Amino acid sequence: MHERGKRAAAGEGSAAAAQAAGVAIITGAAQGIGRSTLHRFVRAGAQVLACDMKAEVLDEARASSGCPERVSTLAQDITAASAPADAVAAALEAFGRVDWLVNNAGIGNAKAADETGDAEWDRFLDVNLRSAFRYARAVLPHLQAGRGVIVHVASIFGILGNPRSAAYAASKAALIGLTRQMAADYGPRGIRINAVAPGVVPTQLSEERLRNDAYYRKLVAEPTPFHRLGKPEDIANAAWFLCSDEAGFINGHTLVVDGGWSVTNYVPR
Ligand SMILES: NC(=O)c1ccc[n+]([C@@H]2O[C@H](COP(=O)([O-])OP(=O)(O)OC[C@H]3O[C@@H](n4cnc5c(N)ncnc54)[C@H](O)[C@@H]3O)[C@@H](O)[C@H]2O)c1
Repeated sequence: MHERGKRAAAGEGSAAAAQAAGVAIITGAAQGIGRSTLHRFVRAGAQVLACDMKAEVLDEARASSGCPERVSTLAQDITAASAPADAVAAALEAFGRVDWLVNNAGIGNAKAADETGDAEWDRFLDVNLRSAFRYARAVLPHLQAGRGVIVHVASIFGILGNPRSAAYAASKAALIGLTRQMAADYGPRGIRINAVAPGVVPTQLSEERLRNDAYYRKLVAEPTPFHRLGKPEDIANAAWFLCSDEAGFINGHTLVVDGGWSVTNYVPR
């Protein structure tokens, strides 16, 4: 993992095309939505600095990306004091610039407010909110006007109430507020800040609750008009869209990706 320079893009032939497509930093890229986002960006031609605390899983994500020479990895805990600066330095060392940041890494649990201790509350805000803020602040000086984009991965539960999600929902609601605030501040500099708010996607983060909590499973699965839960690719596609030029006039927006779950009371029979 300390050989990030050696892991940098090596393919001379594809470098020009990849350079044109841009350079992304993606946190939480080892698995789940983050891995899918890594793969989506690589498929689009991007070069990616992929960050995660799970070094071996991160290596697998890079290896299965379809173009590992356009992926550089950095094993880090995003809450570490130097983590945002380390990620920016690694991206610059590997690819020479930064165009996009996807603040995806996050943690979840199923606890109501009275079940949440101070340490757990602080941990949720640290991982899900403070780190996203610190990464955004670190990349801002490197983003170019008319090209730089930051995408925060929030949650539908940052918008709607949800049983037993106190610290998680608070962190995601605050992330959506940060998205709006940053859009106002950095839009004038030609930098767009948006969020994606996924509905429930079966990943390691959600699988335990989906398996053990029948009421929750019924609540999030059955009323979805699309008759399925989300897939990591659904969220990855939205993150890529928000970074693309096609989303060039979208700023401060939270894009809900939930198959219509949150806007209906529709229960299929
Ligand atoms: N899965 C869902 O139902 C769902 C719904 C809405 C929002 N989200 C959000 O999507 C994002 C991705 O979640 P996922 O479902 O893919 O979960 P996941 O647990 O599969 O993946 C999260 C990744 O983040 C990494 N990570 C966590 N804390 C870290 C830290 N301190 N330092 C470095 N890496 C860290 C993990 O190692 C892991 O690879 C999260 O922000 C989550 O809140 C998920």
